[in-house]
Amino acid sequence: MALNFDVVVIGAGPGGYVCAIRSAQMGLKTAIVEREYMGGVCLNVGCIPSKALITAGHFLHKMQHNASEMGLKVPGEVGVDMAQMQKWKKSVCDRMAGGVEQLLKGNSVTILKGEASFKSATEISVKSSTGTESVVAKNFVIATGSRPIEIPGFAFDEKLVLSSTGGLAQTEKLKSLVVIGGGYIGLEIGSMLANFGTKVTVVEANKGLLVGLADAECVQVVQRKLKKSGVDVLLEAKAKGWKKDGSGVAVTVEVGGKEQVLKAEKVLVTVGRRPNSDQANLKGIGLAIDEKGFVKVNAQRRTNIANIFAIGDVACQPMLAHKASHEGVMVAEIIAGQKRAYEVKTVPSVIFVDPEIAAAGMTEEEAKAAGYTDLKIGKFPFGANGRAVSLMETDGFVKVIADAKTHIVLGVHIVGPEASNLISEAALAVEMGARLEDLALTIHPHPTLGETMMEAAEATLGHAIHIIQKPLGAKPGTPRAHA
Ligand code: FAD
Ligand code: NAI
Repeated sequence: MALNFDVVVIGAGPGGYVCAIRSAQMGLKTAIVEREYMGGVCLNVGCIPSKALITAGHFLHKMQHNASEMGLKVPGEVGVDMAQMQKWKKSVCDRMAGGVEQLLKGNSVTILKGEASFKSATEISVKSSTGTESVVAKNFVIATGSRPIEIPGFAFDEKLVLSSTGGLAQTEKLKSLVVIGGGYIGLEIGSMLANFGTKVTVVEANKGLLVGLADAECVQVVQRKLKKSGVDVLLEAKAKGWKKDGSGVAVTVEVGGKEQVLKAEKVLVTVGRRPNSDQANLKGIGLAIDEKGFVKVNAQRRTNIANIFAIGDVACQPMLAHKASHEGVMVAEIIAGQKRAYEVKTVPSVIFVDPEIAAAGMTEEEAKAAGYTDLKIGKFPFGANGRAVSLMETDGFVKVIADAKTHIVLGVHIVGPEASNLISEAALAVEMGARLEDLALTIHPHPTLGETMMEAAEATLGHAIHIIQKPLGAKPGTPRAHA
């Protein structure tokens, strides 16, 4: 006899597990199927392990570069024990993944461990080491995520040719690394390893780093810092192939029509991720897939088969955990009968490089393309913020883009310390259509990095206190009051 549910979620990543919990909270009989790990890519080989290692890298960097100036004495050389670091990283991931399992159980979600495959629009099989089980449901939510893209000639072996998973699992310090792809993962892992003393060379096909992924001025700040930490960046560069070179690799790249060979201990390939839509017999039951491999969905994340939904990386860009979780909650509520649709103004993004880059809302180009011809743009530097100075982290700025006519905040771009934590206020501002005055007139506690958001809004209005701003076209003595 087949097991029977109102909702079966396939995949326990940040899309799937959140959807299953919300579904159970809404009183629906819910199961979740997972073939590998609770928490998906994010908690096991993505967001959480990468941020753990990046934190350790920053900590080391601060001890090496800031401690003595602060009057802290660190006897002897500060070293790195990669094997111990991996143990600590695993403990962080296990704690989070264990927490997900507890939450699912605590909400009476049935956990089915195994690989799901569709038999029809109302039935799947779940294959595990102990056998195959049939599961019937009124609704299915596909949350099967994505996997790294391989490029020709660079098949992952996780020994010499690493994917992000291998890049995050090194138990020994790498002397040198070639990174193919200067996007989110390549720069996060590359700069993290550079902090541990690895000589990193980034090979990027585009004209710049993070093109289309972040505000160009923010990227410049990071690019300067990469240079300072000894990371080489080759732009408009194509990786052609690799050969074994002793115990390491020799990677042939073409830059400006000329070939050069980069020798390193290993090569990391991070050129994007592809949706897992070619699995679980999705095509077999007639689910529509687009040309990029995403399952086709509407604003409710419903597929072309009415009782099947798709969320997270398998459904559409951006491939971000918080977007997946937002969709998970929404789809559970739709199945429970609520009227909801995906109509967000912004999915905030963070790139955990040094310093961090974070954004909410539009860039200047996007705002212009959206028809905002008259913009007010203001910037406030972290160098003028007391908390940033006391943290010895003064690189970067907060940039605010607003509609000049209404003062509505259209976008905020931050490069600097704790940009990841600062951006939520900006996301709220963009989402609720806040005006510059809302940010400028809200009292921000002192001394905090958060004050930069208030001062960037003031700067956009022309009167930040802690930087000197010339009155914009006004005669001396003209008050620059809130408009
Ligand atoms: P996943 O997390 O991919 O989960 C899908 C799950 O489905 C997996 O557990 C898989 O085993 C399971 N599954 C697949 N097929 C089946 C099947 N047939 N049967 C049963 N189970 C199945 N995003 C951020 O927002 N912030 C970050 O800092 C960040 N850092 C990242 C760092 C790295 C190195 C990587 C690789 C990604 C990072 N991401 C980050 C992206 C983030 O991990 C993804 O956007 C997120 O995990 C997508 O969630 P998901 O639920 O769609 O899928
Ligand atoms: P990406 O799309 O961020 O970057 C890929 C880069 O590789 C691009 O700059 C591209 O121009 C370059 N590239 C493509 N083909 C190339 C080639 N043949 N040679 C050289 N360069 C090439 O992809 P990435 O870094 O793999 O990350 C995948 C996704 O995972 C991200 O887009 C993001 O959605 C998610 N992610 C999010 C993080 C966060 O939120 N902090 C962290 C890590 C990943």
